[in-house]
Amino acid sequence: MNETLNVLNNRMSLRRYKDKPISEEHLEQILYSTMRAPTAGNMMLYSVLVIKDKEKIKKLSSTCDNQAFIAKAPLVLIFLADMQRWTDYFHHCDTPYNSPNNADLFLSISDTMIAAQNAVIAGESMGIGSCYIGDIMENYETHKEMFNLPDKVFPIGMITLGYYPQNMKKTLRPRFNKEYIVFNEKYKRLSSEEFDDMFKHLNDNFNPNNSFGAKNIGQLMYFKKFGAPFFKEMERSVNVIMEHWNK
Ligand SMILES: Cc1cc2nc3c(=O)[nH]c(=O)nc-3n(C[C@H](O)[C@H](O)[C@H](O)COP(=O)(O)O)c2cc1C
Repeated sequence: MNETLNVLNNRMSLRRYKDKPISEEHLEQILYSTMRAPTAGNMMLYSVLVIKDKEKIKKLSSTCDNQAFIAKAPLVLIFLADMQRWTDYFHHCDTPYNSPNNADLFLSISDTMIAAQNAVIAGESMGIGSCYIGDIMENYETHKEMFNLPDKVFPIGMITLGYYPQNMKKTLRPRFNKEYIVFNEKYKRLSSEEFDDMFKHLNDNFNPNNSFGAKNIGQLMYFKKFGAPFFKEMERSVNVIMEHWNK
């Protein structure tokens, strides 16, 4: 295995960090690699917020579904899908462009998250672990105010970053089998038997006395994620983001 594959295949989401700030040199390297990510039309339809202020990070830990570990991260990067810069520039150049549409939305989200993953991997290669925080999509109004975001800019990704604690044993979380994720030539919907096999490793460890009252893994995942209160907030917040986007 080469060094690149080694870093990719041994990354894990890190939620506990060494109590040490990220060095300026490492931060610059992460940001440089972030900006080297592929980007549609070489337009860089994103912006990155570098957050070191402890009070802001603490506030993010509560606005992002009260995840306490966020407050202990020495550094947070917020990845903003950004069509404001190009909208303003197109206006500046007297083009017929009015405001972003749904295609621009998809492209800028793609750009933004591809750049974010470069940051993750650059960090990982230097002993800096990270964790994505999808809950940054919640509480849009608060984040808009907190970070001075115009209408055509919204947070789509966030990562916490920090050095790995000393002697930490990495745990790599299992993935679904390749046959259920990667298809040759055309898409395939899964049968009941295939689902049973796909989720077997999770069902084998399923606790029927779980606090959610779930009777199987599908119900557990639903109650924990898509049916959970934080998801309702995410849906509400994203709808407000879209109202501003489509203004
Ligand atoms: C879009 C996205 C959002 C995520 N949001 C959160 C989050 O809010 N809190 C958290 O602790 N982990 C979050 N994660 C991390 C996932 O839980 C983690 O990637 C997954 O469990 C697999 O574990 P691994 O990254 O260690 O392989 C997120 C990951 C992604 C890609």
